[in-house]
Amino acid sequence: MKVFITRVIPQAGKDLLLAAGHTIEEWTEKRNLTPAELVAHCSDADALLSAGSNKIDAAFLDAAPHLKVIALHAVGYDNVDVAAATRHGIPIGNTPGVLTNATADTAFLLMLATSRKAFYLHKRIIRGEWNFFEPTANLGISLDGKTLGIFGMGSIGQNMARRCKAAYGMQVIYHNRRRDDTAEKELGATYVDFNTLLQQSDVLSVHAPLTPETQGKFNAAAFAQMKPSAIFVNTARGSLHNESDLIAALEGGQIWGAGLDVTNPEPMHPDNVLLQMPNVCVLPHIGSATQETRDAMAVLAAQNIIAGLKGERLPAVVNPEVYG
Ligand code: GLV
Ligand code: GLV
Repeated sequence: MKVFITRVIPQAGKDLLLAAGHTIEEWTEKRNLTPAELVAHCSDADALLSAGSNKIDAAFLDAAPHLKVIALHAVGYDNVDVAAATRHGIPIGNTPGVLTNATADTAFLLMLATSRKAFYLHKRIIRGEWNFFEPTANLGISLDGKTLGIFGMGSIGQNMARRCKAAYGMQVIYHNRRRDDTAEKELGATYVDFNTLLQQSDVLSVHAPLTPETQGKFNAAAFAQMKPSAIFVNTARGSLHNESDLIAALEGGQIWGAGLDVTNPEPMHPDNVLLQMPNVCVLPHIGSATQETRDAMAVLAAQNIIAGLKGERLPAVVNPEVYG
């Protein structure tokens, strides 16, 4: 059967699809498909393997009646109208688990790099500004024994907390839709309300999915409650924070720094003022970008498609309700 793939993905996933007897059509241009192009390529496809932020909404699903399964090359599914997919009887697969370590690593990297102004100092060397050793210049802040606040205590949030505890003996507080026994027992994490999370965190790391409830959650009112020494880290989705409010909070000294792997919009414009700030580190949405992790994501996405085309339950399904 025919599988349409919206970006070039690791060969390991394609090999699995080919070995299962499917044919592949892969979009190789380095630009997003337009909605009309996506529909055109899916008109005779039995499965869609979607990498990137293609909008999978009711209009698309109506226009692609041939599709039997959709597999995302991602854990986040904010680009999908899940209820509409369920109404169409289409299972949606995603790639949880395999990218947990890599994404937590990216949050840890941004926290540490921001705390020591690493990206900014690298730029100063390139500009020829490393002249002599100054004991009182280029100072960052220590993370030892500080309080880590996790917004969204799923597997990635827990992994970040575990790393921070092991490395710096950080105290862990968290806010989540519901309390998490594992996090509380294993990590000694304390559940707090959202305002307490803002007020007490030295590092506030965001690991929640983008939903109507979390969209724009980190806005002026939120930053105003944070410590002037706080570092904000977002590796989840750029729309969880309001960018102009974040810039104002950094410029006004309401928070100290920010580490972002996700921005709004993406890509971030090279003239963005955040890229000039000493206490800000930005990465181009590389949370899961290790060779090992991307191979594993491609394999899991392919397994989801192979199962879906056989009419079997997907190994990682976003909408189990589709099975009635
Ligand atoms: C990437 O952002 C993902 O959701 O996996
Ligand atoms: C710094 O480079 C030192 O030697 O302390």
